[in-house]
Amino acid sequence: MSHDMNDGFLGGPPRLFEAAGREQLIVLLEHGLCFDSFVLDVGCGALRGGRWVIPLLDPGHYCGIEPNRAMLERGLREFLDPEVVECKRPRFDGNDRFDFSVFGIRFTHVVARSVWTHASKQQIGAMLDGFAAHSASDGVFLASFLPAGESKAQEDYLGEAWVGRSHESDEPGMVGHAWRWVEEECAARGLEAQRLDRAPLTERGQVWCVVRHA
Ligand SMILES: C[S@@+](CC[C@H](N)C(=O)[O-])C[C@H]1O[C@@H](n2cnc3c(N)ncnc32)[C@H](O)[C@@H]1O
Repeated sequence: MSHDMNDGFLGGPPRLFEAAGREQLIVLLEHGLCFDSFVLDVGCGALRGGRWVIPLLDPGHYCGIEPNRAMLERGLREFLDPEVVECKRPRFDGNDRFDFSVFGIRFTHVVARSVWTHASKQQIGAMLDGFAAHSASDGVFLASFLPAGESKAQEDYLGEAWVGRSHESDEPGMVGHAWRWVEEECAARGLEAQRLDRAPLTERGQVWCVVRHA
């Protein structure tokens, strides 16, 4: 593994950098984000979304998981004012096990933008376990994904590996997951999943869902 793996990668196409970041803040605000919310940004990358969310939250209330250290460091260097970082004290962890326990916080909001679009079913299962165990009883998990089986292009991904850029790969790639599978995995953990009525940023782009405790 190289330390500058994916140095130039911003989390998605550069033309969508601003829109996809802004959308994360909008979706969080539409689901009750407040100054004292506790937010976990899973696979926070170069802070495409974090740069919108961190300035708004109370100090120490934003946590990000990102195993690609170089990407995160670029985000901290280029997309956030050092004074904002000093004042808002965002917290980060580099584990790649989707271990949400590391922060010792019950999150009100968990967000994963362009993460289920690369993750295996086992990895999404680990994120749902993490949400079930480390969120407030009225917490929400907002995830973008590509629904499989709803257009000819997107198949249901059954492999076990992460697909696309990460701390271990600089190969692009995306995967889809069947909505029915997401609903069943949530139900098996006492969670409920709902699709958001929100137009994708691009044609056949990612849609959002919200997961809550049932
Ligand atoms: C497509 S990018 C999206 C980044 C960010 N959410 C955004 O919207 O810009 C996917 C991110 O997931 C990270 N990632 C890969 N494997 C991961 C793992 N096991 N746990 C957490 N994040 C991971 C990648 O390094 C990358 O930053």
